[in-house]
Amino acid sequence: MENHQQQNTRAQWGSRLGFILAAAGSAVGLGNLWKFPYITFENGGGAFVLVYLGAIVLVGAPIMIAEVLLGRKTQRGPVGAFRLLGRDRPGGVAWTGVGILGVVTGFVILSYYSVVAGWTLRYIVLALSGKLAPLAHDPAALQTFFGTFLSNPWQQTFFHLVFMGATVGVVFFGVGRGIERAARILMPVLFLILLALVFYVVWTPGFNQALTFIFRPNFSELTRGGVLEALGHSFFTLSLGMGAMLTYGSYMRKKTSIPRAAITVCVLDTLIAVMACIIMFSIIFSFDFEITKSSTILFTTLPVVFFKLPGGVVISALFYILVAFAALTSTISLLEVVASYAIDEFGWARRRATLIMGGSIALFGILNALSLGGVQRLSEINLIGRPSTAGVFGTLDYLASNWFLPVGGFLIALFVGWVLTKDENLQELETGHGRMKTFGIWRFLLRFAAPLAVGAIIVSVILGAEYQ
Ligand code: PFF
Repeated sequence: MENHQQQNTRAQWGSRLGFILAAAGSAVGLGNLWKFPYITFENGGGAFVLVYLGAIVLVGAPIMIAEVLLGRKTQRGPVGAFRLLGRDRPGGVAWTGVGILGVVTGFVILSYYSVVAGWTLRYIVLALSGKLAPLAHDPAALQTFFGTFLSNPWQQTFFHLVFMGATVGVVFFGVGRGIERAARILMPVLFLILLALVFYVVWTPGFNQALTFIFRPNFSELTRGGVLEALGHSFFTLSLGMGAMLTYGSYMRKKTSIPRAAITVCVLDTLIAVMACIIMFSIIFSFDFEITKSSTILFTTLPVVFFKLPGGVVISALFYILVAFAALTSTISLLEVVASYAIDEFGWARRRATLIMGGSIALFGILNALSLGGVQRLSEINLIGRPSTAGVFGTLDYLASNWFLPVGGFLIALFVGWVLTKDENLQELETGHGRMKTFGIWRFLLRFAAPLAVGAIIVSVILGAEYQ
């Protein structure tokens, strides 16, 4: 059922900055502040960062432009966009499947992303109530605290639901009054907090060592798995492969330049990921601190070092508020993909779509919240059978980041690069932009570099490479 009226009534961003702020909000999230620093740490720094930057430029940016193009051209979400454009071309209605995969992926990612986002709320409360300080003075106690927190079913569920509530609360009010307004407030605050923290760490003794670690490549540290991980992460961090950028692109005005907006979002996302690394590594290198489990740096290591510095309470509270804001602007975009699907395809009112879809994701997400140790049966499920895929949470994260997003991105690149015509693409990209001198480069990257690189990730996952 297509809602034919939507083309005239579709909501739009209030200004050119609206898209950029909302899309940057979607891109900047736990991927930048939590995951990127720890995978950079695990992969030895500089060389990994360089590969990651290459992946953003050669694969991420071209696919981001392609997604936004699809959304703005069709004025529809992923399902409607693929149905409309796929209809009379090779592949036909089967292309609609790419859109459906996107909506399912949004549902799945949000259901566990919000659990981790909930942890930041717990830490904000801890920091502000003064309870983080004593824990942080005893690293072993903090480890125990975190472990107990993870396996506490009530707390995990509670903070997840609060975060979902906040997400629903924003999406409920729509594109302009909800999403854009939230991004307009949260993104500048986020950037200011980051800047303040960067200025702070410049004076810490570990700053120079951090810069060397991040920017001096040592290729002997780089493994094949590291290259694939950098590629895979470039997808997650830019919110590509599931139609989030496509959906936001569908609210973009024809006056806005797609290439310029998309590149700005890529630059902001990368800048913030690098700033997060500078902050974290400066703090960590300032003390001779041994990191035992890098994936929990954010929750078990950083607090310890925060409180070795002057002003620990303020720094730690600011930091977790920053992470929570970044996560919120990402969860908003995940919910928007799912909610706008119900709005466009079933003709539901936005409020109903947001409440029902957000409510279903929140309920389903409880399974993730309980699978971190709270309910043994859920933590033991391991359909994939690897240590890192244990539990409902581990399984869904593995499927979404290793399969759904890369496969979605691969098909989007093929569709825009090979199925749409050159003229169609050129026309949409030059609308609001003027003559696009780099069109040839973009098209080449989209047709060849992106599918090859993403194909390599998919093949390696099939062959069983453990790179997540
Ligand atoms: N880009 C977000 C991050 O780096 O945390 C995660 C994300 C958001 C992925 C939205 C996909 C998406 F559609």
